Amino acid sequence: MQAVVLVGGFGTRLRPLTSHVPKPMLPVGHEPMISRLIGRLERGGVTEVVLALGFRPEPFVEAFPDGRCGGVELRYAVEPEPLDTGGAIRFAADAAGISETFVVANGDVMTDLDVSSLVDAHRAGGALATLHLIGVADPSAFGVVELGDDGSIRRFVEKPAPGTEPSDLVNAGTYVFEPEVLDLVPVGVRTSVEREVFPALVERGALRGHPTQDYWIDAGVPELFRRANLDLLGGLRRAESCVAVAPGARVDPGATVSGSLVGEGAVVEAGTTIVDSVILPGAVVGARAQVESSVVMGRVGADATVIDCVIGADGVVDDGGHVAYESVPATE
Ligand code: GDD
Ligand code: MG
Repeated sequence: MQAVVLVGGFGTRLRPLTSHVPKPMLPVGHEPMISRLIGRLERGGVTEVVLALGFRPEPFVEAFPDGRCGGVELRYAVEPEPLDTGGAIRFAADAAGISETFVVANGDVMTDLDVSSLVDAHRAGGALATLHLIGVADPSAFGVVELGDDGSIRRFVEKPAPGTEPSDLVNAGTYVFEPEVLDLVPVGVRTSVEREVFPALVERGALRGHPTQDYWIDAGVPELFRRANLDLLGGLRRAESCVAVAPGARVDPGATVSGSLVGEGAVVEAGTTIVDSVILPGAVVGARAQVESSVVMGRVGADATVIDCVIGADGVVDDGGHVAYESVPATE
C-alpha cells in the first residue's frame, strides 16, 4: 500500500529547534521522527511512502540516500510553493500516480496506532475517507469531530474556539483515503484538507472515524516534542523504546542524568545535573550546569541554570547564566 506523508510545514511552533532542521528530521528517541513514523507505517503494511515536501528536500534526500527507509521505498514530491495540507496530498498523490486506497499521515504524529487496523476499519465502513481519532483533554488545538454512533463523522471543525468544541475526539493525523477524495482538491491551489476537504466529505456522508486509545502525541510544539522523547524511556510505548544515553554521547561519569535523553555526539561535562530533559546531538552542557525540563541543541555554559527552556542550535547560555521559561535564541 502507498502512503503520503506530509512533511512540508515550516515547523514554526518548534522554533528555534527547526531553524536549521526540518521538524520531521528532529530526533525522537535518537531517531528522526520521520524514520519512526515510516517504520510504523511499514509495520502496518505500507510499502511505498511519498514524502510531500513544501520546501528544502535536501535534508530528507541526504538522510535516505538510497531512496529507502527500512523496507519502504521513498519518493519525493516537492511542491513549487506550499499548497497546504490538501493541495500537498493531491500534488504528492498525482506525482506518485496513486490510484488505489492509500494512507495519509501528518509527519509530526508519534503514536502506537496499528495502521492495518485503520485500513481494516476503512474497508469495513465503506466511506471515501476514514480518520484515526483520539480523545484529548484540550481539543481546541486540533481538528475536532462529532462522531455518530454508526462511526460516521457528522461534523469536522478545525481548531474551534475553546469552549465551542463538539466533543473531545480529535483528528489524530492518520487517514485512509479512496483516490476519489483527490477529486475534491483543485490542482495546484492552496487547499486545506481539514478546513475544506473534510467538511465537504461530511456533507456527502462520506467521512468516518476510527477512535482508539493508543498512545498519541503531536510532537509539533516544544513541550510535546520533549514529552515524545521522554515517553520512549518509560516502557509506555507499545512497540518502541530507546536508551537514555546514545552510544555516541560523551557524558562525564561525574554528571547526573535522570529521566532524560542525551543524543549522539552531545557533550555533558562533570558535575552537571540533567533532569527530564532532551539533550540533542551537537549540544554541549558545561560543568556543574543544571538543566531541567528543557530541550537543548546549543550550548549551556558552566554553572548555568536552565529550566523549562528550548535552546536552539544557535542558542548560547553564558557561564553562570540563569534562564527559565525561555527560547534561546528568542523567537518572535
Ligand atoms: N507538503 C506540505 N505542504 N506539508 C504541509 C503543508 C504544506 O503546505 N502545511 C502543513 N504541512 C504538514 C506539516 O509539516 C505537518 O506534518 C502536517 O502537514 C500537519 O501540519 P501541522 O502544522 O502539524 O498541523 P497541526 O498540528 O496544527 O494540525 C493538524 O494535525 C492535528 C493532529 O496532530 C491537523 O490535521 C489537525 O486537524 C489535527 O488534529
Ligand atoms: Mg502538528
